Amino acid sequence: MSTRLLTDPTEAATYIKAGQVVAFPTETVYGLGADAFNPEAVQRIFEAKGRPSDNPLIVHVATAAEVPRAAAAVPPVAERLLERFTPGPLTLILPRHPEVPRIVTAGLDTVGVRIPAHPVAQAFLTACNTPVAAPSANPSGRPSPTSWEAVKAGLDGRIAAILKGGRANVGLESTVVDCTTAPPTILRPGAVTRAELRTVAPDITLAPATGPVRSPGQKHRHYTPSATVRLVETPADASPDSTSAFIGIDAPARPSAYGRVAVCADVAAYAHALFDFFFQCDRDGIQQIYCQRVTSEGLGLALMDRLERAAAR
Ligand code: TXA
Ligand code: MG
Repeated sequence: MSTRLLTDPTEAATYIKAGQVVAFPTETVYGLGADAFNPEAVQRIFEAKGRPSDNPLIVHVATAAEVPRAAAAVPPVAERLLERFTPGPLTLILPRHPEVPRIVTAGLDTVGVRIPAHPVAQAFLTACNTPVAAPSANPSGRPSPTSWEAVKAGLDGRIAAILKGGRANVGLESTVVDCTTAPPTILRPGAVTRAELRTVAPDITLAPATGPVRSPGQKHRHYTPSATVRLVETPADASPDSTSAFIGIDAPARPSAYGRVAVCADVAAYAHALFDFFFQCDRDGIQQIYCQRVTSEGLGLALMDRLERAAAR
């Protein structure tokens, strides 16, 4: 299959209607979409990514009014979260609508629903006129793509088309909140922070990083570039050479000693840059990437979650 590069959301939607898979931009990362109500099309997502079949997909819709197409019920706390944070980088786990095929939810009675804010994603989902099941558009286990070039590098020839939409501005995947538990639980930290969620759901809890697995995807290997990732407190803890790279907030003493360096102005810039940095390091054959730790607060909680998963292998 040759993968088409598209710029028109309406043209991209014709592939979805024809049962094909299409990568599309969102504000978090690029997604790999298929018609959520077409089980054969959804199967093609798992094949293209090499994704384990026990890892459920998120269903994307354009507006809050369409959430009931995928979810059997929307509890009051979910209504409040939708009202306050969507469209945006938030996924809600809700009871599955009986018409959503089991392959989408990996057999679970719950379904993840997300309303992306990216204008190209909005135009695409509106034109699809069906809920679109979409994981991140990377081969399973790899960092999520934040540009169409990274999607192409990972999945060229394995998917029908890529809808181009520039660099993803958040750069990390959505916050996942389970609204089927009381109190609601943060299963994956993301750009909507715990403090923000507490303004709407004061009793919200954070699922422990270890212990029983609440979100099936969290048990699989994640976000790992080909290079070895090492976490350091400060640039002084790294040992630079031409086959290694550094990314962090503080500038290393001898940047020219590294094969690649990114010094980020703050945590948001670091989150935005991280997966693209991994992509470029892999392209350049970098062997070792030093990543500076950040404080696990606000967006830093999501960034440290991805950094720790990238370093664990
Ligand atoms: O920002 C994002 O969320 C991106 C864009 C494309 O929307 N999507 C994304 O999808 O990151 P994916 O499949 O890479 O990650 C979805 C996460 C996985 O950890 C999965 O296990 C979890 O959400 N998930 C999906 N449905 C679930 C469910 N019913 N119950 C618990 N966890 C679920
Ligand atoms: Mg993913």
